[in-house]
Amino acid sequence: MARGEVILAIDQGTSSTKALLVDRHGHVLASASAPLGQTHPRPGWVEQSPAEVLASVTAATRSCLDGHDPALVAAVGISNQRESMLLWERSTGEPVTPIISWQDRRTAARCASLVADGFGETVRDVTGLPLDPMFSATKGAWLLDHADPDRSRSRNGDLCLGTVDSWLLSRFGGEHLIEIGNAARTQLLDARAGRWDPGLLEVFGIPSQVLPRVVASTGPFPTVRGLPPLPDGVPVAAVLGDSHAALFAHAGWRPGRVKATYGTGSSVMALSQDTTAADTGLCRTIAWATGTESGAIAHAVEGNILSAGSTLRWLAETVGRTPAELADLADGASSDGVHLVPAFGGLAAPWWDSNAQATLVGMTLATRLPQIARAALESIAFQVEDVVAAAGPHEVLLADGGAAANPTLMQIQADISGRKVHQSLVSDLSAIGAAHLAGLTCGLWTQSELEEFDRPVRVFSPRTGAAERRRTRTAWHQAVARARATDQ
Ligand code: G3P
Repeated sequence: MARGEVILAIDQGTSSTKALLVDRHGHVLASASAPLGQTHPRPGWVEQSPAEVLASVTAATRSCLDGHDPALVAAVGISNQRESMLLWERSTGEPVTPIISWQDRRTAARCASLVADGFGETVRDVTGLPLDPMFSATKGAWLLDHADPDRSRSRNGDLCLGTVDSWLLSRFGGEHLIEIGNAARTQLLDARAGRWDPGLLEVFGIPSQVLPRVVASTGPFPTVRGLPPLPDGVPVAAVLGDSHAALFAHAGWRPGRVKATYGTGSSVMALSQDTTAADTGLCRTIAWATGTESGAIAHAVEGNILSAGSTLRWLAETVGRTPAELADLADGASSDGVHLVPAFGGLAAPWWDSNAQATLVGMTLATRLPQIARAALESIAFQVEDVVAAAGPHEVLLADGGAAANPTLMQIQADISGRKVHQSLVSDLSAIGAAHLAGLTCGLWTQSELEEFDRPVRVFSPRTGAAERRRTRTAWHQAVARARATDQ
């Protein structure tokens, strides 16, 4: 193989960092993963260590390249967990704070007070996002309130605020940047124009000097250094938020495509050029931008579900089983009217209710673990369907992510949705998407070659009738209403 013929793709996710080597036909030559922990210093708080994130990137890269000539790497593509935010010193690059995870709910009260003060509509109109603690803006304000209460160090340019892509680009590239799709999830960006919105910076109390420069998904990015055994000077050719990257890997630029990534949470996303604020409970966002002119921005709708794989993990840990064992128990079982609404940190799309509480309803003395396991799997599928239905008419749902590997969940999804589900037979689609865009950017393949890349799927067809689907979704919505009734 000639020099410069592979892409190193790095997917920095919530629970691990993955690294893949992708050859010029889009085939994965090698992959590796390094786990990543998180801490819960208080109820509702979720933090990660900036140093551990870097260490996991280094470890995954090193083991992925083990046995391969690092000089073969033409470019690096990065996908990353979104919305999580941290602060570091500009002069030394040393973190000043932990990373506040996207899952963290500590700013729920701040969001509620901004809504009470009448900012909800403006924020939604400018950013496309509801005022919710998942997004970075109130996390950034919280970090500054603690590290720079009068904002003097921010205004002086001493501090850098950033998302995980910013952190990686700063440490491995030496520049304070943010990719536009990631920026669209901060709740500080005018999502139509692709620029920081001065009015929102004022609302959230974030000086512009502390923010990274917004760049297209194709850069220009700095070259990598300090990521052995990769030689210094390999270019970063693409950065994408992980959900956006998965959509790209599904060839999401083709019309009519909608995908669901089943991870810790779940993200349903489809391209949509409709940038007006529709009241569907979905977010408007930027999927990617492949150039600097505004026509290069691909807009999207997205719905986030907070608890998907984490629902199964929670139940598995609670009853001393594994998620795979639970899926086996659920296979062929009926939930017998049991519904689990996994509002462990409230509910996101399409409800956006921070006060909703996790709820298990419909149990009788006959209820056993298989019914509850089935209800847990169904909760993922019901939540995804609520978002897909709001995203418009789609006959096919493209599925990827760790939990999507489970055939029982995929069949449940098809049955609940009444749509065909195309389960990706390729794992790590976020890393693949980052590789696909990086290869396109650095000229390793053309758009027409990318169109032809193999995207193998297994198809799950619905086995239910419309009346049954209506009945079960009505029962699910009644359970959701009970989970939300705890606000009253
Ligand atoms: O929005 C949060 C999302 O980007 C995190 O994804 O795969 O790390 O759970 P994941």
